[in-house]
Amino acid sequence: MKSLVLLLCLAQLWGCQSAPQGTGLGFRELSCDDPETEQVALMAVDYLNKHLLQGFKQALNQIDKVKVWSRRPYGEVYELEVDTLETTCHALDPTPLTNCSVRQLTEHAVEGDCDFHILKHEGQFTVLHTQCHSTPDSVEDVRKFCPNCPLLARFNDTNVVRTVNTALAAFNEQNNGTYFKLVEISRAQNVPLPVSTLAEFVIAATDCTAKQVTDPAKCNLLAEKQYGFCKATLMHNLGGEEVSVACKLFQTQPQPANANPASPSPIGDQVVLAAPPAGPPASVVVGPVAVPVQLPDHRTHHDLRHAFSPVASVESASGEAKAGQPSAAGAAGIVPPMCPGRVRYFKI
Ligand SMILES: *[C@@H]1O[C@H](CO)[C@@H](O)[C@H](O)[C@H]1NC(C)=O
Ligand SMILES: *[C@@H]1O[C@H](CO)[C@@H](O)[C@H](O)[C@H]1NC(C)=O
Ligand SMILES: *[C@@H]1O[C@H](CO)[C@@H](O)[C@H](O)[C@H]1NC(C)=O
Repeated sequence: MKSLVLLLCLAQLWGCQSAPQGTGLGFRELSCDDPETEQVALMAVDYLNKHLLQGFKQALNQIDKVKVWSRRPYGEVYELEVDTLETTCHALDPTPLTNCSVRQLTEHAVEGDCDFHILKHEGQFTVLHTQCHSTPDSVEDVRKFCPNCPLLARFNDTNVVRTVNTALAAFNEQNNGTYFKLVEISRAQNVPLPVSTLAEFVIAATDCTAKQVTDPAKCNLLAEKQYGFCKATLMHNLGGEEVSVACKLFQTQPQPANANPASPSPIGDQVVLAAPPAGPPASVVVGPVAVPVQLPDHRTHHDLRHAFSPVASVESASGEAKAGQPSAAGAAGIVPPMCPGRVRYFKI
């Protein structure tokens, strides 16, 4: 029976931890700006970035909450809530996060909000549960401090689609070799002055050559994925349109054995990016990577709710079971720690 109780406790981690006081279980208070908290938060954000399938790498902006629970039979669990900001580096970009700049308010910033449960045992960190979502700054807020700043446009906006199509065609024309096809529209804005459209998108090399392509749908992504990230501007001049495009090709990525091959995907269709096989930091144990949910393409950004493929569902289920329970244990008489912590960039 004892082992059964232990198993139940493992399955309902948080329920067990809210056991009556005097059992030696409970939580430890930490300040949000404590170096220990920051270390775990940075690791959590790193984990997030390594499991992003779409959109942009995230930078830690603020730690909102932290609690550290002792866990049976061993270890401690950090329960963290953090705010992140979108950077200019795409999720597939191998550039280290420290070299990625945070997207400014004037570019219509996007904020991420994540909950993490991270187990620490003998110096090893294991992510048990993660849940994130992200939201762009509100239009009113952007308008308030910057009336002329371009807002995020929908991915299926006519100008955006035309910009991406024209830019990709121009890129393929300049590039006498491999035909690249669209994988994802990542971000787009219609600029009022000069009248133009900005688009950032992901492309991937196919088995077609650019010169021969008749039907792009028949071109398949290579097994050794080669992705690229493009920034394009379409100027809407009186005399016509003028496109400029710059693409950065990333190193090839071998196809992970269990990943779904990214399917042919004309603009406007749903696109699922195969999980980048980037390894986790040595200290993090990673669960299986799931394919993100497909959504209508009238979005203006890739919500972390779907773009981020978190860990095993068993573990996240135990996370859900804890709702409301921990606060009952040991909270009385403890001075609240300094939370939320400092803002690293700006507040949305
Ligand atoms: C990142 O930035 C550092 C310092 O500025 C620089 O030395 C390094 O080459 C950069 N790395 C990349 C991949 O850009
Ligand atoms: C592509 O081919 C054209 C004509 O053959 C040539 O002028 C151009 O320089 C080539 N571009 C590249 C990037 O090789
Ligand atoms: C974008 O998609 C939404 C939802 O599918 C649709 O209602 C809207 O008309 C589309 N916009 C354009 C410009 O195609």
